[in-house]
Amino acid sequence: MSTTTESMTGQTTFEVDYSELIPNNVDLNSDRALKRALEKWQPNFLDWWKEMGPEGFQAKEVYLRTAVGVDKAGWAKFGYVRMPEYRWGILLAPRDENRKIAFGKHKGEPAWQEVPGEYRAMLRRLVVIQGDTEPASVEQQRYLGKTAPSLYDMRNLFQVNVEEGRHLWAMVYLLQKYFGRDGREEAEELLRRRSGNADKPRILGAFNEKTPDWLSFFMFTQFTDRDGKMQLESLAQSGFDPLSRTCRFMLMEESFHMFTGQTGVGRTVEKTCQMMNEAGITDPYDVEAVRALGVIDLPTIQRKANFHMSVSRDLFGAEVSTNAANAFNAGLKGRFHEIDLEDDHQLTNDTYSVVRYKNNAFIEEEVPALSAINARLLDDYINDCQRGIDRWNRVIEKAGIDFRVKQPHKAFNRRIGEFADLNVSTEGEVMDSETWESRKYEWLPTESDLKFLVDLMHPVTEPGKFASWIAPPKVGVDQKPGDFEYVKL
Ligand SMILES: [Fe+2]
Ligand SMILES: [Fe+2]
Repeated sequence: MSTTTESMTGQTTFEVDYSELIPNNVDLNSDRALKRALEKWQPNFLDWWKEMGPEGFQAKEVYLRTAVGVDKAGWAKFGYVRMPEYRWGILLAPRDENRKIAFGKHKGEPAWQEVPGEYRAMLRRLVVIQGDTEPASVEQQRYLGKTAPSLYDMRNLFQVNVEEGRHLWAMVYLLQKYFGRDGREEAEELLRRRSGNADKPRILGAFNEKTPDWLSFFMFTQFTDRDGKMQLESLAQSGFDPLSRTCRFMLMEESFHMFTGQTGVGRTVEKTCQMMNEAGITDPYDVEAVRALGVIDLPTIQRKANFHMSVSRDLFGAEVSTNAANAFNAGLKGRFHEIDLEDDHQLTNDTYSVVRYKNNAFIEEEVPALSAINARLLDDYINDCQRGIDRWNRVIEKAGIDFRVKQPHKAFNRRIGEFADLNVSTEGEVMDSETWESRKYEWLPTESDLKFLVDLMHPVTEPGKFASWIAPPKVGVDQKPGDFEYVKL
């Protein structure tokens, strides 16, 4: 039982040891085998980063934040770093010795410090799926630096990228420490799959889509990273304590990713409204006139949002799912804010209302709450998204423009789950596939929308300057002034 002894000696401190090759707060030195495995994986990670990370900027100094501790106050420091020299480390939130499993059939038992044998395969799968999304998004975003609308935005992109790299480290740590040989193999596979590659694609659909322009990037960080947040929130509830602690710290970094998306789209909307008002354009659907101002028309923003929301909703998996029920029952993956919910946390007799399509109509059906874990997380996600959309709409409302960004119907453009086989408009109108094909571009970005966006993306690299289509941020990173040189080109 050597692994148990090793993990017993594993101390967690607030401070991270940066004198080590692999910065960590998990006392890596006490586990020689693990340290060797990680040190062997590290050069492969760096090769992957150099091959698939941000293209064209690897040698530039970027003003990045690096996590230096896991204490909520002052956990990060800022400074210029060349990305390949970023200190990707292993950071877990502090251990609570008295932590109990909060849900499922093991509720009330002490949280596991080792993988329970009976759940090994399920747990490994959860870690691998989460882990796979992290490098995938770096791959998807690798060309965006070349068309950054400002140095501020370029820096934010790279910050997101290095942190997704760190999240990969977080999952690889779990795989290598707790899953033996197959964990090490999975860790290698995470570096072998490639986003969008037909032979070796990333595991989940949304992570094989392209991110060709900055509006796509902002939509991705707003809607797809927000799915990531929901998944991390539910894994942070896990009875497997190392996973919980890992995810709790990742969430601190993740909130910046969604900030990037929320404010990125918000600044885009703001600039569009401002330019429309200055030009005296009141009709948001006068697309040509709006685009001629060098900004993105609101209907295109809506269609982009529709696309990103629908593919991100698919990431929640089937709304009614036995796998999700099993993972909850086993205590591996909880609900959003599980410990704050007021019920028995076992859900043996509870039901949950799920939207389903039956007899040619959308109905609300009560299903066993256990089997509706995914449906519930998706509902929480949709609510979370709405708060961000409301903020965009306040900008539009304040500008006096008659347009509101809306969430599409739950069944719109889905490939997975309850509505995978349906063709549904954003308003919830069900149609045959022929009608869908002829009408889908009322709701989804057209080829010409996407081309317009790509053509609009011109790099702006002078400090303090911004591309025509986006407003400057309210405040700089780390309280830096507006003309701060976030990336030294
Ligand atoms: Fe991440
Ligand atoms: Fe993220």
